[in-house]
Amino acid sequence: GRDMLGTSPQGGKSKLPMQGVPQPTRDEVLKLPRVHISSHPVMAHKMTLLRNKNTPPPQFYQLVKEIGSLLAYEATENLALEKSEIETPLQSTTGYRLAGGIGVTPILRAGLGLAEGFRQVIPDVQVWHLGLRRDEETLQAMEYYNRLPHQVDLQVVYAVDPMLATGGSAIDAINILKRRGIPRLSYLGIIAAPYGLQRLAQAHPDIDIYVAALDESLNDMGYIVPGLGDAGDRQFGTF
Ligand code: PRP
Ligand code: URA
Repeated sequence: GRDMLGTSPQGGKSKLPMQGVPQPTRDEVLKLPRVHISSHPVMAHKMTLLRNKNTPPPQFYQLVKEIGSLLAYEATENLALEKSEIETPLQSTTGYRLAGGIGVTPILRAGLGLAEGFRQVIPDVQVWHLGLRRDEETLQAMEYYNRLPHQVDLQVVYAVDPMLATGGSAIDAINILKRRGIPRLSYLGIIAAPYGLQRLAQAHPDIDIYVAALDESLNDMGYIVPGLGDAGDRQFGTF
């Protein structure tokens, strides 16, 4: 497997990407507006199974989907509704249905499981795939795949990606979505590091950010600690 502990001997030419970079504390970022961190016991239970290094890929993927469904439920609390007249077996009544125009953007690869869980809660969504890969040396995100449609008729899009580490991938993804002119954007993630959460909230103060957990910090390699390791590799078995 890849070295993610940040303990490898330093090569002569490049230092570890997060070495010496100051990071905010959890308490500092907890004050940020529009940041929502899950506090539900079911989420805490599933997060513990997910973090465990002995959880194998099939179960890990299943947990990512389940956490994606729980996050979708939390993050859609203010979706627009429209009235819908129906007949129950007893009488007519006025109900409500989601107004529609909802999109989800999985940031490949690791966002795929989260998007799947989102769709189990809200099946009627457009799925806009976006491939971003972070260079392990520079931690810069690079776009390699983009299936965002040019005709846009959505009211809200949720960018989903399990790990908010340096925030580079999330900031770029939201920039790409903003260029499509969507009125409302949100970010959904499983684990955030204080550093990435602060950068995302400062770069995009107009979006809501929903995460299942806020961890301690990034290590010198840019991995979240305690974290869960590499979310893409653990879903797809590519160690
Ligand atoms: C991981 C993760 C995020 C990104 C987070 O993806 O899924 O997309 O890194 O790091 P950042 O906040 O520092 O940008 P990775 O590039 O490893 O690709 P993968 O999903 O294909 O595994
Ligand atoms: N991407 C991951 O998958 N895990 C981390 O800890 C950081 C980035």
